[in-house]
Amino acid sequence: MAGAGEWGNSGLAFHKCSNYRTAMAKPKKRYVCQACGSVATRWQGQCGECQEWNSLVEDAPATVFSQKHDLSSGGRLIALEGMEETGEAPERIGTGLAEFDRALGGGLVVGSAILMGGDPGIGKSTLLLQAAANIAKSGRGAVYISGEEAPAQVRMRARRLGVADAPVRLASATNARDILTTLGQGEPPALIVIDSIQTMFSDQIEGAPGTVSQVRGCAFELIRFAKECGSALVLVGHVTKDGNIAGPRVLEHMVDVVLAFEGERSHQYRILRGLKNRFGPVDEIGVFAMGAEGLAEIANPSSLFLSGREEPVAGSAVFPAIEGTRPVLVEIQALVVRLQSGATPRRAVVGWDGGRLAMLLAVLESRCGLNFSSAEVYLNVAGGYRLADPAADLAVVAALVSALADRPLAARATWFGEVSLAGEIRPVAHTSMRLREAAKLGFDRAHGPPADEAATIKGVSYDALDLLPKLVDRIMGGA
Ligand code: TYD
Ligand code: MG
Repeated sequence: MAGAGEWGNSGLAFHKCSNYRTAMAKPKKRYVCQACGSVATRWQGQCGECQEWNSLVEDAPATVFSQKHDLSSGGRLIALEGMEETGEAPERIGTGLAEFDRALGGGLVVGSAILMGGDPGIGKSTLLLQAAANIAKSGRGAVYISGEEAPAQVRMRARRLGVADAPVRLASATNARDILTTLGQGEPPALIVIDSIQTMFSDQIEGAPGTVSQVRGCAFELIRFAKECGSALVLVGHVTKDGNIAGPRVLEHMVDVVLAFEGERSHQYRILRGLKNRFGPVDEIGVFAMGAEGLAEIANPSSLFLSGREEPVAGSAVFPAIEGTRPVLVEIQALVVRLQSGATPRRAVVGWDGGRLAMLLAVLESRCGLNFSSAEVYLNVAGGYRLADPAADLAVVAALVSALADRPLAARATWFGEVSLAGEIRPVAHTSMRLREAAKLGFDRAHGPPADEAATIKGVSYDALDLLPKLVDRIMGGA
């Protein structure tokens, strides 16, 4: 039919173009989207990939290398090596902040590049100045380059942090060439902080600072310097409204480690989370509190989450959720109010799917014999969270049963798993990530579907449940 004709045509077209050198004689213009980094061959008002308006900017033409150069000869030979371990762990430098080191997987790796993203005002500059001061005090060189603040401002912050006496070398600069020339003089420092990569520019690259080509080009040169000289390089990255590091995703591909610094600005707690780490695990987090003298480490973060939860309350269950690729602990609260009159009971949900709540209530009724039909049911996900993770079912059920029976759940227990219409508790993804996060935050018990990986997590006793009636028995029995 029509399809067969198209196949025939494309075959012909391919044949015509097989002499591609003549076909691609003129380098084509290319346009790069400043929001998502996708490349288009002609300018258009809206990016075809991410639908952002007015984001396409002309980039340097892609040269067809094979036209000008023959790449198949004339190069130096490279050594191809075996896969056997050489037994050398990468050399690391401590930042003097155990929580920072933990998020890095054990400190800064010599010659590595780290990208730190976070909302404005969250404390990125503060944390990095504290780390730079610690490293400088330990006798290793630390350089802090700010593209956003004058040295006087950085000095003022250092005074506030009580580290003004640390021999950190400061500069306010944005020209990558100046920075690299300066860093190339004398002994290379152990730590280089660039605050932020979006303010850097190179006179070799077209476009304003912050554009994809500038950010990519400057990051490339800085990373190359760090790798050659064995310095640890930290690039601060701005974050867009939706929480991604501004500029191209390529930046995340170029660096060895990506860290996100998170928290509510109105709240004092901050979490430093590894999103990518070529030298260690990514599910480690570092917890800090922002105070009048900078960021203080929180060695026992469960105190943070359990504050206000000293007395366990009926109807509250803690759920280790996965947000995108990140684990986060969320409290689910349920309230069940028995109605005296025959009025239609209300069901209200904040932060979760109302249809799913109705389904779970029906499952509890038909599989476990629990009667919610003459009671009003309210469900709330604390902290204004919206949950989309199907593993929330079990925590919701635990909160509902606890509320109905007026029996508080154990304060240090977490609940996760998907519930089927038949009343089975189904396996979910990322069990070990959920359990590690729970253990890190001081939760030592977990109830969930049968999972082999659960046994490998230290510090958490795991209660594998396959059917909902068993969960109800556990709660009635005081789990
Ligand atoms: P900053 O490190 O400048 O944030 P970022 O670099 O991520 O934009 O921190 C800014 C906020 O932190 C600012 O609102 C003031 C507050 N802060 C403190 O509360 N205590 C301190 O000791 C310091 C230095 C800052
Ligand atoms: Mg800053």
